[in-house]
Amino acid sequence: MAKTHTFFIYSILLHITITKTEQCKILLPQQFDNTISNKFHNDPATIQHASNDYGNMVHEFPVAVFHPSSIQDIITLIKISYNSTVPFSIAARGQGHSTNGQAMAGDGVVVDMASFRKERKEVAISVSEDPMIGYYVDVGGEQVWIDVLYETLLHGVAPVSWTDYLYLTVGGTLSNAGISGQTFRYGPQITNVHELDVITGKGDFVTCSNKKNPELYHAVLGGLGQFGVITRARISLEPAPTMVKWMRLIYSDFSAFTKDQERLISMNGVKLNFLEGMLLMHKGSINNWRSSFFPLSQHSRIASLINKHNILYCLEFAKYYYDDQSEKKVDKEIKVMVQGLGYIPGLHYEKNVSYVEFLNRVRSGELKLKSQGLWDVPHPWLNLFIPKSQILDFNAGVFKDIILKRNITDGIVLVYPMNKSKWDDRMSAITPKEDIFYTVGFLHSGGFDDWKAHDAQNKEILKFCSEVGINVKQYLPNHNIQEDWKNHFGTKWKSFLQRKQMFDPKMILSPGQKIFNKYYQAF
Ligand SMILES: Cc1cc2nc3c(=O)[nH]c(=O)nc-3n(C[C@H](O)[C@H](O)[C@H](O)COP(=O)(O)OP(=O)(O)OC[C@H]3O[C@@H](n4cnc5c(N)ncnc54)[C@H](O)[C@@H]3O)c2cc1C
Ligand SMILES: *[C@@H]1O[C@H](CO)[C@@H](O)[C@H](O)[C@H]1NC(C)=O
Ligand SMILES: *[C@@H]1O[C@H](CO)[C@@H](O)[C@H](O)[C@H]1NC(C)=O
Ligand SMILES: *[C@@H]1O[C@H](CO)[C@@H](O)[C@H](O)[C@H]1NC(C)=O
Ligand SMILES: *[C@@H]1O[C@H](CO)[C@@H](O)[C@H](O)[C@H]1NC(C)=O
Repeated sequence: MAKTHTFFIYSILLHITITKTEQCKILLPQQFDNTISNKFHNDPATIQHASNDYGNMVHEFPVAVFHPSSIQDIITLIKISYNSTVPFSIAARGQGHSTNGQAMAGDGVVVDMASFRKERKEVAISVSEDPMIGYYVDVGGEQVWIDVLYETLLHGVAPVSWTDYLYLTVGGTLSNAGISGQTFRYGPQITNVHELDVITGKGDFVTCSNKKNPELYHAVLGGLGQFGVITRARISLEPAPTMVKWMRLIYSDFSAFTKDQERLISMNGVKLNFLEGMLLMHKGSINNWRSSFFPLSQHSRIASLINKHNILYCLEFAKYYYDDQSEKKVDKEIKVMVQGLGYIPGLHYEKNVSYVEFLNRVRSGELKLKSQGLWDVPHPWLNLFIPKSQILDFNAGVFKDIILKRNITDGIVLVYPMNKSKWDDRMSAITPKEDIFYTVGFLHSGGFDDWKAHDAQNKEILKFCSEVGINVKQYLPNHNIQEDWKNHFGTKWKSFLQRKQMFDPKMILSPGQKIFNKYYQAF
């Protein structure tokens, strides 16, 4: 009864047999025992899932989706491709929370890390202590940060550097940087990793760190999936706080806002643990899906100030504390500190929440959007790093001009500074060449029809910056031609190429980043 039909991936070695039951079998070259042949799937739903992401704009269709149940399965898969005369591309897909197809593999194989999370037999999150480095956790690259948080808290410890949203994979954020309000103090997530296990594009399983195979370690961190699949990360931990004092202050003047942000991240007295900022531009942004923060009684006051100024700037920070510390003392410290700041008098708001509630603050908004069917919509996001010396120009040209004129920005716009000294330039992640730089995140939610307007706005912003010489770097970068990638990497392009040659010479991994393609001769 099975209607069988066979074809080839790039015409060679791998024959995929599709039966009517829509199970997909790969007939492997003989030297492999067929241990992985039943782990490929190509039913329409699975293919469709792997050819979409959070961006909901780009679609690349893989030939098959691979569901590994062990690290060995992934090694085997990569080795098969590497050893083929015409290798096929392979992309690890974390949660697919990229917005431009970065975790897709057109005509290749997507490794579904979410299914690995379910099927994996080995322990995937384990906390230990070491006399030299203190507490650390070994985590599978397929794990999501929320689970890392819960598991480590059982031991009274937790990682120190986070993303705003925790349902992202460890492998996915470490392939970018992993930034949030903690970055100014603790560095991005990539600088909080002691050691990695990586399966390179040759199918080699390699443990690497600052001392051991440092070239691979530095390549992979922020490496956009180009050098290997991360199967384990050893992440540093600190004693976990229990409570968080969480504040928001509203400004009308951008330079006062950034001056205070910069002052707060460099303070030696009251050391804050978290600092961000965002624009408030219309009524909807007072209580957007990520922040039901301001008391209802204050909404009309804030709204009328938005009417008056068009844009307000909301500075947000947090101070952690522990059970045995008195809340009164933290309160007092913060109160004194806030007195010297230049926000609109009276417009300061605070909350007092548990550490978990604070770190997981985006989740409730996600669930609400999901229940309204508004989560799986196009997300034409643009994330930028901007040198401090040019942030006022950026405000004038982008926030006060492009954004206001177009009047379509209804999503979140984040703005906060970081200190470059907390980054490690040997890693692949790219940051501007200034001690302090800002991240600006335009986190748009488009309708299925109007995402193109946001996309056009993103292009206008980039064009403006390039014309007036604002040296922006994209975070979660999206470039389509190699010339733009060369500019993105700047002086690090050469070493990026060398590392590609070393660890993925056949350009198998994460083709959705569009840095290399099979037609381009990189070497
Ligand atoms: C609601 C939301 C909030 C966000 N907030 C933040 C934030 O605050 N800070 C921040 O830094 N980012 C944030 N992000 C972006 C997020 O970091 C990226 O989407 C990132 O790619 C992680 O998502 P993911 O785990 O789904 O990875 P994917 O999108 O699945 O993959 C990203 C890239 O990494 C590769 N990859 C995936 N797993 C591995 C692995 N194990 N080894 C090697 N390569 C791998 C993929 O092939 C792909 O190229 C947010 C995203 C969303 C949707
Ligand atoms: C690679 O292929 C060659 C011949 O094509 C074969 O001899 C060799 O065993 C293969 N290696 C692996 C790891 O499969
Ligand atoms: C950034 O970090 C460096 C090194 O720790 C420090 O000297 C400098 O003052 C910091 N800058 C700010 C603005 O915090
Ligand atoms: C802060 O939280 C703690 C613990 O839940 C609580 O005891 C305290 O009263 C709270 N303070 C304020 C001002 O809400
Ligand atoms: C912006 O758009 C909203 C509707 O989305 C409209 O009410 C408002 O007047 C517009 N503002 C300007 C300055 O055009």
